[in-house]
Amino acid sequence: MRNFISVHDVKDINALAANALMYKADPFKDRKLGADKRIGLLFLNPSLRTRLSTQVAAANLGMEAIVFNVDKEGWALEFEEGAIMSGNTVEHIKDAAPILGSYFDILCIRTFPGLKNREDDYSELYISQFIKYCGVPVISLESATLHPLQSLTDIITIQETLKENAAFKAANAKPKIVLTWAPHVKPLPQCVANSFAQWINAWGEADFVITHPEDYELATQFTQGATVTQNQDEALKGADFVYVKNWSTYTDYGKVYENDPGWMLTAEKLKLTNQAKVMHCLPVRRNVELSDEVLDGPNSIVTKQASNRVWAAQAVIAEILKSV
Ligand code: CP
Repeated sequence: MRNFISVHDVKDINALAANALMYKADPFKDRKLGADKRIGLLFLNPSLRTRLSTQVAAANLGMEAIVFNVDKEGWALEFEEGAIMSGNTVEHIKDAAPILGSYFDILCIRTFPGLKNREDDYSELYISQFIKYCGVPVISLESATLHPLQSLTDIITIQETLKENAAFKAANAKPKIVLTWAPHVKPLPQCVANSFAQWINAWGEADFVITHPEDYELATQFTQGATVTQNQDEALKGADFVYVKNWSTYTDYGKVYENDPGWMLTAEKLKLTNQAKVMHCLPVRRNVELSDEVLDGPNSIVTKQASNRVWAAQAVIAEILKSV
């Protein structure tokens, strides 16, 4: 693996997930793999889990991790080719990226979408320009359209939960996984939902349903293969996993059309499911997206999910280190 930007960079999802769970069982088994190597974590946007789990993962492999909050501490970067830089941007990515590449063996980048212009965001200009000019492998810490470390974590967490469930093991059945839209107070990117859909479809070992209100369709390049419905109750029936996430509109880009609290996942709605485990990438708006009752109840696996971020990052960094 050279870069880790989407599921398309992964040859075998189950093998990568197995490596992640191997690191969970034995975190320091490859503690020499990253010796004398450095990983740079560049943040153009805030983070709690991604930042810390990737640093812990790198340390487990013996690698030095350096975090740079580009948005707060760096020069304002220009990404457009041929730009006349007479405005607010100070340094072109063509100049900055090769320098960053000379300091680090792997670069990791978080860059959120602007949610103003769909074409710009979905072109993934920022992360593409880093890859083009830095000369070292790049790991996405969440880009304009995708969040691959989160999605690998989600698959690991689902696999681990299935293995722990004796009834599932005995039945050897495909789990029903439902991705449900939930209300939020502001427009959020589609990244987590796009990425989850892309990975679950590519994994192919689930009955996958996406449910959202009218006008909240995601891009079909990610959802193809899933059943899509606007009837949340119908979608939740018999679900084994419910992944809760808000996203803003894709078609009329970056808008909030709907904030009906009726879409919040509550204990009452959970009764429709097959005692589903509840997932969310976090941070979560309590009692807006998910009720306290659900988040603090026995069905929630959000803490396990977030803690698994370390093992997903460790498996990805290790695979890149082995291939360079
Ligand atoms: N889920 C996730 O990416 O969390 P952070 O934004 O805190 O990194």
